Amino acid sequence: MYAQIHGYHWNVEGPNFRQLHATFEEQYQNLWAALDEIAERIRSQGAYAPGSVADLMALAAPEDTPAQLAHEISPN
Ligand SMILES: [Fe+2]
Repeated sequence: MYAQIHGYHWNVEGPNFRQLHATFEEQYQNLWAALDEIAERIRSQGAYAPGSVADLMALAAPEDTPAQLAHEISPN
């Protein structure tokens, strides 16, 4: 999710660019700040946190929307 939202931040286009660009930045920063706590919670439950791109790709939802489509998202 972090990579996808950061991709939206970089690639968003259109008349709502400024608002979406800022919103995606806030979201990816919040996700980045949460990553360490989430990983440590996973470890506290006895499992290994995904620690590589391959691990994350294996866990990614197949319906993830490509970042190239970010310009089609309208703000709330
Ligand atoms: Fe940026």
